[in-house]
Amino acid sequence: MSAFRIRPAVGEDARVLSDMLVEAANWDPVRARPRVAVLEDPSVLRYVSGWMRPGDFGCVAEDAHGVPIGAAWARLFPANAPGSGFVAVGVPELTLGVNPQWRAQGVGRALLQALAAHAPAHGAARLSLSVNHGNFAQRLYVSEGYVTVASRGTADTMVRSVR
Ligand SMILES: CC(C)(COP(=O)(O)OP(=O)(O)OC[C@H]1O[C@@H](n2cnc3c(N)ncnc32)[C@H](O)[C@@H]1OP(=O)(O)O)[C@@H](O)C(=O)NCCC(=O)NCCS
Repeated sequence: MSAFRIRPAVGEDARVLSDMLVEAANWDPVRARPRVAVLEDPSVLRYVSGWMRPGDFGCVAEDAHGVPIGAAWARLFPANAPGSGFVAVGVPELTLGVNPQWRAQGVGRALLQALAAHAPAHGAARLSLSVNHGNFAQRLYVSEGYVTVASRGTADTMVRSVR
């Protein structure tokens, strides 16, 4: 396994998070869209637009040279403009992505664990997410304590307690 480290995300990570958001949105290679099309989609862009705004927090994984290779972050949405994995006001929604060449080396799991560890310090008691049916990431989420609480169209909403 190659070496990587996890650090807290900062305001200057908007580009990194956008890159990982594209990876997350393009989880199914059969339906992958060009980066520009993904980031023009308001239902996707809402997860990074204006990063880092109050309530946002996250973690970035870097390789041994300090090059970002993955990120997990959480963002609050209001009830009148919810994200895909919205469960309640005050429950931030998670986004996760890892560079293709770094997958299946423990980066995703390490990011999930680091984000959950940071969450209470940011006032979160729970984290939520939306995962499409058929994405193996759902098994990863289950193994990290996420439970399916709703099924919406082609995706499940999952929640875990972090306290
Ligand atoms: C989902 C994703 C973040 C996981 O990150 P990762 O670094 O590859 O995951 P890890 O190496 O930590 O592996 C986590 C578990 O998933 C398993 N796994 C990894 N790649 C897999 C694959 N292609 N198919 C099935 N299982 C896989 C691993 O075996 C591991 O399980 P284990 O610990 O029991 O062995 C990453 O694959 C990714 O960015 N995918 C595209 C974006 C995406 O789907 N984001 C989530 C949207 S909800």
